[in-house]
Amino acid sequence: MEFTVKSGDPEKQRTACVVVGVFEPRRLSQPAKAIDVVSKGYLSNLVRRGEIEGKLGQALLLHNVPGTRAGRVLLVGCGRERDLGDNQFRQIISKTATQLNETGSMEAVSYLTELDIKGHDIYWKVRQSVEASRNALYRFDTLKSKKDTTRRPLRKIMLSVPTRRDLPIGEKAITEGQAIANGVKLTKDLANLPSNICTPTYLADQAIELQKTHESIKVKVMEEAEMEQLGMGALLAVSRGSREPAKLITLEYMGANKDAKPIILVGKGVTFDSGGISIKPAANMDEMKFDMCGAASVLGTFATAAELHLPINIVGVIPTTENMPNGNATKPGDIVTSLSGQTIEILNTDAEGRLILCDALTYCERFDPDVVIDVATLTGACVIALGKHATGLLSNHNPLANDLLNAGRESGDRAWQLPLWEDYHQQLDSPFADIANVGGREAATITAACFLSRFAKKFHWSHLDIAGTAWLTGKEKGATGRPVPLLVQYLLDRCN
Ligand code: BES
Ligand code: MN
Ligand code: ZN
Repeated sequence: MEFTVKSGDPEKQRTACVVVGVFEPRRLSQPAKAIDVVSKGYLSNLVRRGEIEGKLGQALLLHNVPGTRAGRVLLVGCGRERDLGDNQFRQIISKTATQLNETGSMEAVSYLTELDIKGHDIYWKVRQSVEASRNALYRFDTLKSKKDTTRRPLRKIMLSVPTRRDLPIGEKAITEGQAIANGVKLTKDLANLPSNICTPTYLADQAIELQKTHESIKVKVMEEAEMEQLGMGALLAVSRGSREPAKLITLEYMGANKDAKPIILVGKGVTFDSGGISIKPAANMDEMKFDMCGAASVLGTFATAAELHLPINIVGVIPTTENMPNGNATKPGDIVTSLSGQTIEILNTDAEGRLILCDALTYCERFDPDVVIDVATLTGACVIALGKHATGLLSNHNPLANDLLNAGRESGDRAWQLPLWEDYHQQLDSPFADIANVGGREAATITAACFLSRFAKKFHWSHLDIAGTAWLTGKEKGATGRPVPLLVQYLLDRCN
């Protein structure tokens, strides 16, 4: 979908549809008032009769409003003006995109970018409008033999900015919003694919595709034989029960001077997590195809960074495997040696994410990183603690944690920090090895991060547990593309 910015009066727009807001209770926004004046009170009359109350999520489509030059005027409910915050704004934008698409307006001029949102400027409103509209119109139908097609789909939205001087910043917001939406879409598409299609080999091929599209991206794919040679015993312990070979994908994006230390993004790429011998219950096990969302978000973030030519260096490290039970599979109680040399007692084969990530983290050392951020659907406990709203964040370096928390707030893709205190480490004591791979039911998100922290001692590191945020369940089942917006915001902030 195409977006542009423009400045001008709503009543003068020659377009299929002009979109303006109505606040609860029955109060016209400024642009709506301008249309009301030229139409000699047409809108205020409707509103007075109660045709639209202005509640959040309401919409009323009007045809041939007197005095205007647009085919239609779409009134969108914005709720109470003083309650209008980030979430409400995104809801209004989504509703608008869906309405326009379903009612046959192929293009529209929206004045919703002129709503006042506390603490946010026009750049933010334009960028969020692009991201939220594209999110609302996203469909994953590549595997349906009959696709429901929209007869007259929405093709172009022109977003209004207050003055001509705001046009350049508006255009920048559109460029960045589109690039983020492209990264989010790539992440969702990969994550929504079933595990019989999206295997570790498929993910590696997708990384190679990125290298083909962007000259600035270089990709290497490591096979099991080399992992063996290097001593990645933890990663191999997970893949041994599967017929699909594991891969370790490394991506390098060099946007800056070659001696600038890279930011490393590590993504958990378990393309299906059956639990292994510690097998999971049958209910909802299909959702474990989403256990590669961390990997997909690293690929999505790379696509966005390359599209925007960000002036920084980024390395991506993606350990990818299935977690399956067969006659060759790792058994509870087995002890393996990780790449770091630390031995691990695998008490539960379903705690596999940390096993593949620990070798990936040790592998990061050779890139002499500025910071390392891992992204993983790591613990069910994180879903219990924070739900689908916030990503769990744990870190060994508070300045990095704060940068990520801020990036989450700014992008609307929020994270919440949990403690990584030494007190929790004792839960990982093993009588037979250096460390156990599980720490019991209590504080399971924290003990998982404690486990990872033992392999992240040599650099500044943060862990993002996206188990609750990476996909939605129930009737809206599907990947969200999170935390691509957070990660890209962090990268953008690092460029400034
Ligand atoms: N991929 C799962 C975590 C998960 C579960 C994410 C449900 C989203 C929804 C992970 O590999 C796992 O199985 N974790 C276990 C760890 C436990 C055995 C210590 C969990 O959270 O139950
Ligand atoms: Mn598991
Ligand atoms: Zn898993």
